[in-house]
Amino acid sequence: MCGIVGYIGNNEKKSILINGLRELEYRGYDSAGISVLAEGNLNIFKAVGKIINLERKCESFSSSGFGVGIGHTRWATHGKPTETNAHPHFGKFSNVVHNGIIENYQSIKDMLIKKGYNFISQTDTEVIVHLFESMLESSITPLEAFTKTINELKGAYAILLITQKAPNEIFYAKNGSPLIIGKGQDGIYFSSSDTPLIGLATEVCYLKDGDFGVMDLDGFAKLGDIKELSGDKLSSQKDGFTFFMEKEIYEQHKVLLETMMGRVGDDGFFLEELSNIDLSNIKSIRLCACGTSYHAALAGSYMLERIAKISTKVEIASEFRYKEPILDENELFISISQSGETADTLEAVKLAKKAKLKTISICNVDNSSIVRESDASLLTRAGIEKGVASTKAFATQVMVLWILSCYLAQKRFSFAEVKGQVQIMLNAIKLTEVNKKMHEKIKRLSRRYLHGHGFFFIGRDIFYPLALEGALKLKEISYLHAEGYPSGEMKHGPIALADSGLFCVALMPKNLMYDKIKSNVEELSARDAMICALSSEYYEGCDDWIEVCDSSHYMEEFFSMMIALQIFALEIAIRLGNDVDMPRNLAKSVTVE
Ligand code: AGP
Repeated sequence: MCGIVGYIGNNEKKSILINGLRELEYRGYDSAGISVLAEGNLNIFKAVGKIINLERKCESFSSSGFGVGIGHTRWATHGKPTETNAHPHFGKFSNVVHNGIIENYQSIKDMLIKKGYNFISQTDTEVIVHLFESMLESSITPLEAFTKTINELKGAYAILLITQKAPNEIFYAKNGSPLIIGKGQDGIYFSSSDTPLIGLATEVCYLKDGDFGVMDLDGFAKLGDIKELSGDKLSSQKDGFTFFMEKEIYEQHKVLLETMMGRVGDDGFFLEELSNIDLSNIKSIRLCACGTSYHAALAGSYMLERIAKISTKVEIASEFRYKEPILDENELFISISQSGETADTLEAVKLAKKAKLKTISICNVDNSSIVRESDASLLTRAGIEKGVASTKAFATQVMVLWILSCYLAQKRFSFAEVKGQVQIMLNAIKLTEVNKKMHEKIKRLSRRYLHGHGFFFIGRDIFYPLALEGALKLKEISYLHAEGYPSGEMKHGPIALADSGLFCVALMPKNLMYDKIKSNVEELSARDAMICALSSEYYEGCDDWIEVCDSSHYMEEFFSMMIALQIFALEIAIRLGNDVDMPRNLAKSVTVE
């Protein structure tokens, strides 16, 4: 989704902005632009497609000495991904970049057109810059004009604006979309996430909704709630893998251990982060999330009911928001989000809070909007995930939900009840270490799955959410049609699609209802569907067999099948020549509803 960067200082502004945008590429975008104000001149460059196109556009431009600059990667919402619609948008003497949606842009636009302002783009953003310039006509200072502008806007936004009327400053505003201001040795930086700031800024301020103002080189200290920025760039590089997604699949066994660290021991489950929340009156749990995080939530519901014996409902955040849900104060609300910025999930948390529910978030990004909005947070500790198709974030979300289930069971009953889970967790993590032979086998097999009219991923119980996730991974990066289904449900309709052009990826854990799923697979095989079985035991009815490690608990099988499914999607997408890390139409952080 759109990304924003900004810089105030003496260093080469073009390269700082472009490098910053590159760090935001993982969020997904279809055009990009920068604008630099130095020595009184405003220079603006935009390009459709990858950042390299933008770089080519401004190859011969450089700016020396003090100046300010703003940059943007755009993921189209209003208007096609064209150069005209790309940000920055400009007026006569000001430029603006914006992330989010201005809901009342049409009425503002109509009013400005009547006043004689010309619009050249189809975007909602363009109104901001014209509105600012029109407000200046009746204001004493640019800040007064900016304040009046912000007061008119409805919707979600993170905004940076520069103007020749105040050439040493950047005007900023945040409401609903993330925006961070950082300070480093060489100046002031703005960004919609931490990543572009790492290595440049040492201190940061995460703006809150409703914050707006103007910043110059000396203004940072006046911001409240300044935090140190730590982190190193290495973790966000590819470590020799061709794709971030592949690297992220391979590092799951390491990050899962991180997730467990300090939370799981021989003498109990410990979730310090929840110490300030009174969970004694909790009668039920509601999990809420989108996409892959929703699949983790579904998996979590099986564990919370089975291990902690607490009734659990699961909601898709975009549905939950508008269904007028009946909420009970004794219900615990748990949101799950990799980015912590997903607009629907964030709004769902606000709704739950308003209804006085206790809210916990399971999130990968500390200080993100969802984390800040929740009463308590359990960080997944997956490290930066750059592949748009989530892998290690999913694995760690499931692990946190597993730990939480055991923690709640321990609180309600005793540690003895769940002690056995500790070893199963460690075994499961061991099985996420990628077996090179299995990877090679899937790579060879993948060539047989490039055609056909579609895929069904099927599984029972907790393997049903895993089947949904396997199908989502495949469709996100291969663009092939895939659906996840509970195996037992196939005969209630979908089996009508079974023929020799249908691929069926069957999750067949030895330790959980093996015979039942075997019968379901046989029903499909009898109708000529091509069966790819994931199991530790060879199943004679399959066309292809992906062998997973023999293990004694179904959660161990869950994690080894998860790895196999991720690699399956990866290898098919590579064969199809797709951009695995940045699949078409998708964004890493979905900050619009
Ligand atoms: C995952 O592969 C997807 N890109 C997507 O479904 C994602 O999980 C969803 O947008 C939710 O994001 P979040 O976890 O950051 O809230």
